[in-house]
Amino acid sequence: MSTDLKSQMQEVLAPLQGRQVVLIPALQAVQEKFGYLPEVAMEEIGRVAGVSSNVVYGVASFYAQFRFIKPGEHMIKICLGTACHVRGAAGLAKSLERELHIEPGKTTPDGKFSLEEVRCFGSCALAPVIVVDDQVYGNMTTTKTKEILDEFR
Ligand code: FES
Repeated sequence: MSTDLKSQMQEVLAPLQGRQVVLIPALQAVQEKFGYLPEVAMEEIGRVAGVSSNVVYGVASFYAQFRFIKPGEHMIKICLGTACHVRGAAGLAKSLERELHIEPGKTTPDGKFSLEEVRCFGSCALAPVIVVDDQVYGNMTTTKTKEILDEFR
């Protein structure tokens, strides 16, 4: 690669590198604090990073880790990864949906619980697994799941 082409390439990539470095940690920091990314976050992060709110939203929406709707007071995640699946996670997921009267990705009308499906927490030896807030519960059954929900109600 000629020096001229290399310097042109660096010129093209330089702003993108800076953008990635600033945007992802900023998005993570806001979500960590608020539990989701409110609309105003796109504008504020954009202002700090020197890009439009559309660019910020474009980056955030690319990653599944970011949420745009305020989650419930308690986040319930059920693992549907392979180890959990073969040990009955699909049935547990259905029982959670019935118990909470919501689908995955939704929040109960009272704002108490949100439900999400995840593809492995890295706790496969405990399959099937659910996580409530940051607490991992392993070897779950429908009965145990109901008991855990009752603790948080
Ligand atoms: S597959 Fe469920 S924790 Fe790994």
